[in-house]
Amino acid sequence: MSNADLVQAQYEAFPYPARDPQDERHRLIVGTPSHLLEIDHYLFAGRRDFTQPFRVLVAGGGTGDACIMLAQQLTDRRTPAEIVYLDLSQTSRAICEQRAQIRGLANIRFMTGSLLDLPSLGLGGFDYIDCTGVLHHLVDPAAGMLALARALTPEGGMGVMLYGEHGRSGVYQLQNMLRVLAPVQMPASERLAVARKLIRLLPSTNLFRRNPFLNDHLAGGDAGLYDLLLHSQDRAFTVPQIVEMTHAAGLRLAGFLEPARYEPATYMSDPQLARRLSELPFLERAAFAERLAGNLRTHIFYATKAGFDTVARPEDTQAIPVLRETQASELAAALQPGQPLVANLDGFPWRAQLPPLAGAIVSQIDGRRTIAEIYTALGARGNLPLWDDFRQQFEQLYVILNGINHLLLRFPRGR
Ligand SMILES: C[S@@+](CC[C@H](N)C(=O)[O-])C[C@H]1O[C@@H](n2cnc3c(N)ncnc32)[C@H](O)[C@@H]1O
Repeated sequence: MSNADLVQAQYEAFPYPARDPQDERHRLIVGTPSHLLEIDHYLFAGRRDFTQPFRVLVAGGGTGDACIMLAQQLTDRRTPAEIVYLDLSQTSRAICEQRAQIRGLANIRFMTGSLLDLPSLGLGGFDYIDCTGVLHHLVDPAAGMLALARALTPEGGMGVMLYGEHGRSGVYQLQNMLRVLAPVQMPASERLAVARKLIRLLPSTNLFRRNPFLNDHLAGGDAGLYDLLLHSQDRAFTVPQIVEMTHAAGLRLAGFLEPARYEPATYMSDPQLARRLSELPFLERAAFAERLAGNLRTHIFYATKAGFDTVARPEDTQAIPVLRETQASELAAALQPGQPLVANLDGFPWRAQLPPLAGAIVSQIDGRRTIAEIYTALGARGNLPLWDDFRQQFEQLYVILNGINHLLLRFPRGR
């Protein structure tokens, strides 16, 4: 069997991630990338009109997390959308189909096949492509990226997840050991048993044991364990490698998520060194931050075909701040004056100094008011700072909350 055949066989036997379609009756899995607010913010400068047709490809859709989230969000907005689900694995597709059926989603077109065959599938151009956890399982990931880039409309973009090299320290050594002790010729159940046994027996010095943030083998059942440690085709990427592959496909990187993780200043307590690093261009800062943090297990990024800046920016005060999933009142209450915001970035305790107006500003975010209108609303509450002071504080708050993917921007339509 070729490696590509082994990959297909794996996902027929172990659809990933393991999902019970019945769970759709009581929860929607919402993730990153491909949340509609993120797509708008990073790829359409917050100005995408979702009343207009929107074509999406979910390449390597698996059991359907991104496909279902996108189909549901576009249905909720009544967008005339088509979401094409494409995957090699029929069993994964069947699970995604059941999930869609339970939700009554009618905007998905299901296809079985390889994303490498996109040029011959005649599917037309896509405004957005989701491809998470797939390209690193191809024999030639760059060929996959190119096939996807060519399927985009001229101003389309994609949300991608690839494994991160440094944060997966220990994985590849363990995979190599398992190739010796549990070769592919062995029945899958025996391979899984050997893997479980070896994990238990790892000495305390072993790199995998010393990496506490790898937990798919614990939380993901057989499919998770197989995916992490028994994969036949799996590699990881550094930021510079992603930049190279993305550029080679004719795309531009719009942003890494979560942005704070890709800023050296997040991890740097020395103000002089932090200032020097802040002067580097964006992609160099991201590469530095990855090396400094050492714990990025995955890289999530948005990349675009457009030849212009596609990211919504807070400098335009006609932008509407939107909270991604949190409630403004809850977040405002958690932002105590004089206290830093503390976020756990996979073991790194990030402490970000909040501006004095943080809580007051957040309490006015309702997904409708623009930044300028929030300023006016603060005035109505007898809380009016000078405009320049407000703007400075808003931008300081924005960098922190956008940095952990809580806050995004969109622009009002027709204004
Ligand atoms: C790790 S799973 C990720 C699934 C899904 N994207 C997610 O993030 O939940 C990888 C998926 O990619 C699919 N896949 C691998 N190579 C592919 C290819 N060349 N074309 C289409 N799908 C592929 C596999 O069948 C599998 O369902």
